[in-house]
Amino acid sequence: MANWIKLARVSDVPSAAAKECVAEGRVIALFNVNGTFYALEGVCPHQGGPLGRGELNGCIVTCPWHGWQFDVRSGQHQFNAQIVQPHFPVRVEDDWILVDLG
Ligand code: FES
Repeated sequence: MANWIKLARVSDVPSAAAKECVAEGRVIALFNVNGTFYALEGVCPHQGGPLGRGELNGCIVTCPWHGWQFDVRSGQHQFNAQIVQPHFPVRVEDDWILVDLG
């Protein structure tokens, strides 16, 4: 069942930026890739680094702790095909970014 949660205003996440958000006790990393928003589970599966504070390059975020990289569109780790970070549907409504936490 869908569980859409307002995470941030559109103006809070400029193009090419990342933002760390907390909703329902979960850390969610929001990203803006050329005006399209994506959301990943915000806790890096390596050692818990904050993906929402990582550097976004195109659609690739780099974890600020040890440099693991993920495609923010799919959660796919860039070097290990076995690792896929959970990602969530996103929609924009009335200047709000909403994420379906399921
Ligand atoms: S915690 Fe993210 S790369 Fe180590």
